[in-house]
Amino acid sequence: MTRRIILDVDTGSDDAVAVMLAALNPAIDLMAVCTVKGNQPLDNTTENTKKVLDLVHSDIPLYRGCKEPLVRNAAPWQVQFEDRATVVDEEGKKHFIHEDFDMLPASDRKIEDTPAPVFYSEYFKNKPEVSTSIVCVGPLTNLATALSINPDIVSNIEELVIMGGGDDESNATSSSEFNFFFDPEAAQKVFQAGFKKMTIIPLDCTHKAMVTKDDCKRFEEIGTPAALFAKEMCKKRIEVHTQRQPLTLPDACALHDPVCIAYLIDETVLTDVRFLHIDCSLSGLTYGQMVTDHRYFQDNRNAHIAYNGDRRKFVDIMCEAFKLNY
Ligand code: RIB
Ligand code: CA
Repeated sequence: MTRRIILDVDTGSDDAVAVMLAALNPAIDLMAVCTVKGNQPLDNTTENTKKVLDLVHSDIPLYRGCKEPLVRNAAPWQVQFEDRATVVDEEGKKHFIHEDFDMLPASDRKIEDTPAPVFYSEYFKNKPEVSTSIVCVGPLTNLATALSINPDIVSNIEELVIMGGGDDESNATSSSEFNFFFDPEAAQKVFQAGFKKMTIIPLDCTHKAMVTKDDCKRFEEIGTPAALFAKEMCKKRIEVHTQRQPLTLPDACALHDPVCIAYLIDETVLTDVRFLHIDCSLSGLTYGQMVTDHRYFQDNRNAHIAYNGDRRKFVDIMCEAFKLNY
């Protein structure tokens, strides 16, 4: 079954693979891409996204979103993310996990005039003719702002799929994951909005649905521009994970964002999915933490959370899509 989606990104190395997978796989009807500040400032995430859409020859519309989080930027002391996402090579050169795509040609792609939150509020003002879901793989600022414009849109969104959070895993501070930590007020607003179905793909899943160096060899053998770009992104990510965020497999990386797309293509990519209640902490050392209620008797469950993922199915889905690129 084809799934019509709008993809919200802070392009970044894994966002780029999510955009390519969504644009290339025929089971996904990609209606639009919206950009937000997160891994990089808004201008950079937007330019990076333009270049990736050119790489896969996609002509879908691109909307710029919010330049800043709802309330504040995290104080430097709060963020260990930069440090945990940067490696130094033999020449002493620093490599951040989300550098700009200077290796790709500049893009003269047009950007829509409507700001992303206004686009959301107009697109979902009435129930769309074709059921449409939203996939957020960056901070939730755009969607939270759209909810401020029109809270009623939640009833017209088929499913909200979010990459973010972590129950037993974190990567921004000791207890939070980057997307939710970057704009916790937006995350809390979205969690409490009453979506018909909200699926969360946290680090507990993406740290298991890994991509390995052997998988990168498969990308190289496919040899299309998309496959080779994905290989480049994963190579750098493997370095960062090996040196700064070790996983349970050596020579492997998490490739968080495209797991959300792979799930929409084949929902069995997600395993150990639990229906629970989540909120987002807005204070103290847990600022930005996804707080999960595991008690059996709670009746205010609002999120389907994946605690594991099938990494072989995930990689196979990406390989099949990359073969369609030219
Ligand atoms: O914590 C992982 C998330 O933060 C991913 O979406 C990655 O792109 C960064 O935005
Ligand atoms: Ca992202």
